[in-house]
Amino acid sequence: MRAAVCPAYGAPEVVEVVEVPAPPLGPGQLRVLVEAAAVNFPDVLIVADKYQLSVPPPFVPGSEFAGTVVERGEGVDGFEVGRRVFGSTMVGAFAEQVVVAAASVSAVPDGVEARHAAAFGVAHRTAYHTLRSVAKLVPGEELVVLGAGGGVGLAAVQLGRTLGATVTAVASTPEKLAVAASFGATRLVDHTAGPLREALKDALPGGADVVVDPVGGSRAEPALRVLRRGGRFVTVGYASGEIPRIPLNLVLLKGVQIVGFEIRSFTTHQAEEAGRNEQELMALLAAGRATPHIGATFPLEETAAALRYVADGRAVGKVVITADG
Ligand SMILES: NC(=O)c1ccc[n+]([C@@H]2O[C@H](COP(=O)([O-])OP(=O)(O)OC[C@H]3O[C@@H](n4cnc5c(N)ncnc54)[C@H](OP(=O)(O)O)[C@@H]3O)[C@@H](O)[C@H]2O)c1
Repeated sequence: MRAAVCPAYGAPEVVEVVEVPAPPLGPGQLRVLVEAAAVNFPDVLIVADKYQLSVPPPFVPGSEFAGTVVERGEGVDGFEVGRRVFGSTMVGAFAEQVVVAAASVSAVPDGVEARHAAAFGVAHRTAYHTLRSVAKLVPGEELVVLGAGGGVGLAAVQLGRTLGATVTAVASTPEKLAVAASFGATRLVDHTAGPLREALKDALPGGADVVVDPVGGSRAEPALRVLRRGGRFVTVGYASGEIPRIPLNLVLLKGVQIVGFEIRSFTTHQAEEAGRNEQELMALLAAGRATPHIGATFPLEETAAALRYVADGRAVGKVVITADG
């Protein structure tokens, strides 16, 4: 089969598409013919060996996919051959076939196309668990989303609106802000236009209730400062490459909370709540109310370019890889 292979750690350009043997199928696993795979920022980090877990090269990157079951391993119930599924894995999805634990996939709801199913899992789950269970967002609240044109950010804009919040989107380009507006953001802040602290103060004179931050760096503190008393700041990721250092007096003075979210530990330690969220989110996907925005699609042969696009922060919504682009 054709697959994108990372032969040694490095920049996205180390990844090359070559012929490799199809991965072996073990008990409890499914072989899925990949129709679409979504690129996530952590894929870039795994290729560079800058992620919190290392995968020894050579390996096939790619953590999100949608496709059709073509073979079932011993002991797998359900997910018969021909069934459309989507799921996530640590690596392996940027290939014509992926082998994954049957327990890690979900059925694609009728009417949902492969690119949308592939792009849905990580960003929308991250955004929904963050808003619903960590920030405990309630209707009528003011939500600020940093990186609002990116995968997690745009999902947070869409789902925050669905949960009844008024959404302020912060992003770096008119294109990203326009997509955020089309996903329900009513206040748009271009952080490249001037100091973010002033821009947020002008946009939200009464303050905000919740900030979702997948970017970190220099944007975190000005966003924290716009919270009103009792506000919640959720740190989700550091796409800027910089982990912010926050003066704790800002937390003390207004009684705000800074809370972290990490999807693996959340689904492990709050399994019941994660299960409820998953059901709600799947219903939204099936109803067409949680459809991701696909900003760019690349052919499998151009996987390195797709990774570069995401690494440079150019992605608007999600970037997807398909066999033919
Ligand atoms: N905690 C979890 O469980 C979890 C789950 C999924 C993802 N994450 C993390 O969340 C972060 C965002 O993921 P994503 O999928 O939303 O990424 P993305 O689609 O690439 O968006 C990231 C946004 O960060 C901003 N950015 C600033 N500097 C950047 C830089 N040097 N390179 C790239 N982006 C930069 C950009 O926003 P502007 O254009 O507005 O500057 C960009 O739109 C990543 O760090 C990822 O690892 C965490």
